[in-house]
Amino acid sequence: MTALPQQAPPPVQLTPADFPDSPLSKAFRQPLMLGVFLNLQDIKFSGLPSTSTWTFDYNAAVVQRAEALGFELAFSRTQWLPKGGYDGEASLDAFVALGAMAAVTKTIMLISTMHVLYGPLHPLHIAKYGATLDHIAKGRWGINIVTGHRAIEHEMFGWQRIEHDERYVLAAELFDVVQRLWSEDENYSFEGKSPWKVVNGFITPKPLYGRPVLVNATGSDAGIDFAARYSDIVFITSPGGSHIDSALETLPAHTARIKQAARSIGREIKTLINPVIVSRDTERETEEYANAIVAHAYGPNGRGNGNRQHDSDAHAWRGRQDAKNKPGRGLGGNIEIVGTPEQVVEQLVALKKTGIDGVQLGFYDFAPDLDYFGERILPLLEQAGVRL
Ligand SMILES: Cc1cc2nc3c(=O)[nH]c(=O)nc-3n(C[C@H](O)[C@H](O)[C@H](O)COP(=O)(O)O)c2cc1C
Repeated sequence: MTALPQQAPPPVQLTPADFPDSPLSKAFRQPLMLGVFLNLQDIKFSGLPSTSTWTFDYNAAVVQRAEALGFELAFSRTQWLPKGGYDGEASLDAFVALGAMAAVTKTIMLISTMHVLYGPLHPLHIAKYGATLDHIAKGRWGINIVTGHRAIEHEMFGWQRIEHDERYVLAAELFDVVQRLWSEDENYSFEGKSPWKVVNGFITPKPLYGRPVLVNATGSDAGIDFAARYSDIVFITSPGGSHIDSALETLPAHTARIKQAARSIGREIKTLINPVIVSRDTERETEEYANAIVAHAYGPNGRGNGNRQHDSDAHAWRGRQDAKNKPGRGLGGNIEIVGTPEQVVEQLVALKKTGIDGVQLGFYDFAPDLDYFGERILPLLEQAGVRL
């Protein structure tokens, strides 16, 4: 693994977790944080009818509903795939769309994915856009720092994919500078190994709580090292793949390792994972629903699976290829949680015990299934003591 550059830290490096009244600190008080994993992409892996769609209005309504239910965060990914890719018909940019949701929400945190190496994106852009959204959202906006795991995406921007660990080195240099711009009271200049330079850069206003929320999603050593140094939250995958049994077996060691990596440099980091929830009142109805999703699946070459043909060097999903792990059913999500409301709660409580601090939930038929979660499952989570 390539070591991250050892730059001198900025003079005062405060994070939102250092402010007890920041939205992040409030979220951290929940035993199990709740989020929604939005689909701003036209991801359809099954033809079973569903209301889910990529449109802004649909997803903004989902976020408002999640906020009304007391959820702490909303997240969406962004991918840059050629025609026929994972996006199917359409895909909105998460940076713009989640940023815009700041104006129609009040309490929920909004985490936008940004491919921070493509372009290249200048640190002044990230710092200025970030400070602006931070003020509009009153400290509720954050970045999912993504470096791009698919060769085809880097090629779309006109170059070859940068080597896996080197991407984290470049992202670290970038965020050292972005954080300086968010905290320095004087003009700041920088020249390093990245293709951009800063000469007398200055950003004001400063973010309200030190800086926006920072997140990255990883399973690799280099990515965990990066998360330990820069992120408040790390989006993790199950080393055991998507079956809940294998996930529960493999997650304790994984979450402990990630938290230890942060603690070893005097930081704390929270772990979030994204299950899909498939639930109905009875086991029979739940099975019927899950089976219907699978029965209508488009298959490996069907619509919605266009991403699989593109090479990826990501470590995070390697557990799915390991034959000793139980396979998932193909319901979407990094983990599949299937069952009656009581069984869902059991599985979420079990996840919490593995060191998971929060879940960002996905649903096959997003809006009605989120309503069902709010009505039937959330009260049981409160009774179980994992929601305040
Ligand atoms: C919950 C989650 C969300 C992600 N969102 C995106 C995304 O929006 N765009 C993207 O290109 N990669 C996304 N990724 C991939 C990560 O950025 C990263 O490339 C991947 O986790 C592999 O990292 P690793 O090789 O360090 O394990 C996501 C990963 C996870 C687990």
